[in-house]
Amino acid sequence: MLKKKIIVLGVTGGIAVYKVADLASKLTQSGADVHVVMTKSATEFVTPTTFEALTGNTVVTEMFGPRASHDIAHIKLADAADLMVIAPATANIIAKFATGIADDMLTSVVLATRAPVIVCPAMHHNMYTNPATVENLETLKKRGFTIIPAAHGRLASGALGYGRLPDTAIMMGTIEMTLGQNGDFKGKKIVVTAGGTQEAIDPVRFISNRSSGKMGYAVAEAARDRGAQVTLITAPTALPDPVGVNIVKIKSVVQLRDEVVKATQKADVLVMSAAGADFIPKNTAAQKIKKSDAGLALELVKAPDILSEIKDGKFIKVGFKAETQNLVDNAREKLYKTNLDLIVANDVTKEGSGFGTDTNEVTIISKDGKPEALPLMTKREVADQILDRVVKLLK
Ligand SMILES: Cc1cc2nc3c(=O)[nH]c(=O)nc-3n(C[C@H](O)[C@H](O)[C@H](O)COP(=O)(O)O)c2cc1C
Repeated sequence: MLKKKIIVLGVTGGIAVYKVADLASKLTQSGADVHVVMTKSATEFVTPTTFEALTGNTVVTEMFGPRASHDIAHIKLADAADLMVIAPATANIIAKFATGIADDMLTSVVLATRAPVIVCPAMHHNMYTNPATVENLETLKKRGFTIIPAAHGRLASGALGYGRLPDTAIMMGTIEMTLGQNGDFKGKKIVVTAGGTQEAIDPVRFISNRSSGKMGYAVAEAARDRGAQVTLITAPTALPDPVGVNIVKIKSVVQLRDEVVKATQKADVLVMSAAGADFIPKNTAAQKIKKSDAGLALELVKAPDILSEIKDGKFIKVGFKAETQNLVDNAREKLYKTNLDLIVANDVTKEGSGFGTDTNEVTIISKDGKPEALPLMTKREVADQILDRVVKLLK
């Protein structure tokens, strides 16, 4: 998504400048061509050398001075940018953007560009909540700037409050989402499920499975970055909440079923990557079951079969099948039985595939029953492969 995108990163004079070196590095590692423009104050905190080394591009700090060509640098940068991100954004630069001041390179580029601009404020709590800053941010929002709200926590002054620079992951997610907002899923509503459900035995114990949720989260993020409106229904996972996605947290397979039925009423696509329980305890004890020499026999009953319950829904349905044997035959049977449009089958015993890994080796089977074996790739790449097929079905 970020490959070959030209990103102009505006860096201003706040204490959080050092954290933005990480953002510059991550953007560059993702394949973006990052051009940093620093205000004079920003160079008091970190030298341009840091950003030049991280991005491989010359950092611009001056409006005037010797030039390599007759290009007008601020217009050239403004025109070339696919996206601008200002991090950290000081109270001062926010005020300048709001009033249209163009007295240095960064303010001039922002005024001249027609690319989307993301502003990441970072400052002391009192500056952030000052009505001047609040109103300036409102003005920018009305003009179409994206503002990532400052986070809460310990500030450089030692005080607690709102004013921290948003985490790099949140800035990265917002950048990817903004770049993809006019993608091939624009206007489409997609419901994605993720994670392994937890079925309570008593108030402290549950039965679950090894699903990490990584595949579902990758599908949710990939769909978001192609312009979809995404609802992610997720069982408990160790993963951070993706930005720009409507998140519904569930625990049990019954809750998963209820939320899927609700969310798919208005959906165009459902991708069922959650590992819902197949068997659930017949009864859940109200109190913690005591340890006993006699052991414990649990009676399990069949869990609701979500895909069967929604098999007549008028939306594209994508299922997953994790198997340890007879992969393709079992997956094909599920595809037809539950009226799926696609099924993604993976042999969880394979190296680098299945639960918890960042990669997956899958076989995709469509309604014609023909299996398409894909090589080992990242879960994000698998997600895009699935969405490439879904977008064709939507047409
Ligand atoms: C040590 C130090 C830390 C500062 N941290 C911040 C900050 O986090 N946020 C902010 O808005 N201003 C901060 N300032 C004030 C700005 O540097 C000042 O308003 C400056 O004029 C901003 O210039 P610029 O917006 O052109 O980069 C800080 C100043 C100093 C000396």
